[in-house]
Amino acid sequence: PTGTLLDARGRPLRDLRISVTDRCNFRCSYCMPKEVFEKTYTYLPHSALLSFEEITRLAERFVAHGVHKLRLTGGEPLLRKGIETLVAQLAALRTPQGEPLDITLTTNGSLLARKAEALKAAGLRRVTVSLDGLDDAVFREMNDVDFPVASVLAGIEAARAAGLGPIKVNMVVKRGTNEAQILPMARHFRGSGIVLRFIEFMDVGATNGWRMDEVLPSDEVLALLQSEFALVPLQASQTGETAQRWGYAGADGRHDPALGEVGFISSVTHAFCGDCNRARLSMDGKLFLCLFASQGYDLRALLRGGADDAALDGALAAIWQGRSDRYSELRASLPPDTGAGGPKRVEMSYIGG
Ligand code: GTP
Ligand code: 5AD
Ligand code: SF4
Ligand code: SF4
Repeated sequence: PTGTLLDARGRPLRDLRISVTDRCNFRCSYCMPKEVFEKTYTYLPHSALLSFEEITRLAERFVAHGVHKLRLTGGEPLLRKGIETLVAQLAALRTPQGEPLDITLTTNGSLLARKAEALKAAGLRRVTVSLDGLDDAVFREMNDVDFPVASVLAGIEAARAAGLGPIKVNMVVKRGTNEAQILPMARHFRGSGIVLRFIEFMDVGATNGWRMDEVLPSDEVLALLQSEFALVPLQASQTGETAQRWGYAGADGRHDPALGEVGFISSVTHAFCGDCNRARLSMDGKLFLCLFASQGYDLRALLRGGADDAALDGALAAIWQGRSDRYSELRASLPPDTGAGGPKRVEMSYIGG
């Protein structure tokens, strides 16, 4: 491998997101609605999951092809037993230039207070915590398992104390559900060193009852913030970044780093497929080229069929070079998904965020 693999649209492979479990202890309606995930959904048996050794072996091949960032996701990744062991194995990997990787994890924060220290010790660099509101009643309703917001805030504090940072907080905004939490969240995290990011409610999967009228466009969220705070646009810190960054301004009208920044992840109203460098690996070893894909490539079959490194490298290169996905850019021009016929898009809890 040359370390610079380009897809059919000229996009490099930089970011591998590894989903380690399809289970979660929350039932956020936009991701794992109870009607489906408590009743009819079939979770994978343990034997279907990639072992930590298999995950690490694949990650190593991706790194040889240019991946610099590894993100562990789920479901809820901290539910996977011994996850810190996997973190330690991944932390030992190096890029072809000998650099360590950026290793991070997306979590709902419920188990973070218990696990932050061990994760840091294993080599995790930072975490992103999902949090949809500060009001306890709103938060309990959104996670739909009556989980208290105070425990997530304690998890964030534990992560900070353990030195996992910079910490990001992701808030999925649904019109009519948690828009009243936008300003309280901004006030809470402004000046805290934690980056709050607002995510537009997306039409991932096939079960979350997505409707355009429940999407609150980022432009409206920004306007709401600007009614209270002075904000200035910031440069992207990396190409292919998901979020548009805005910094809180000080009295001089310039970005004040001490006040921090917010981000907007606007897949619906401002698609960012143009330089999308993300690949996704499911817990059962399928490689997906887009969050909105319906089908993945079965790498587990290759692994368990005894493929050597060269065979894996060849397969990965061919798959990535054939990639032309850009769902968010095409969304508006696609026929509406009526649920009838055609392969179903995979669920976010299966493919990871
Ligand atoms: P860092 O900024 O490096 O921490 O990572 P990131 O920007 O990839 O952020 P994160 O992994 O926290 O992703 C945030 C959210 O953005 C995810 O939970 C998804 O909702 C959304 N997202 C991430 N990647 C994509 C993508 O490729 N396409 C779309 N449509 N949404 C994405
Ligand atoms: N739209 C936007 N973001 C979503 N997430 C899960 N489902 C959706 C959706 N339908 C986000 C969560 C979390 C990450 C795992 O994915 O909020 O930050
Ligand atoms: Fe669980 Fe995260 Fe999905 Fe909520 S968004 S159900 S916390 S995986
Ligand atoms: Fe990448 Fe697909 Fe998201 Fe576009 S919709 S940014 S191609 S994952």
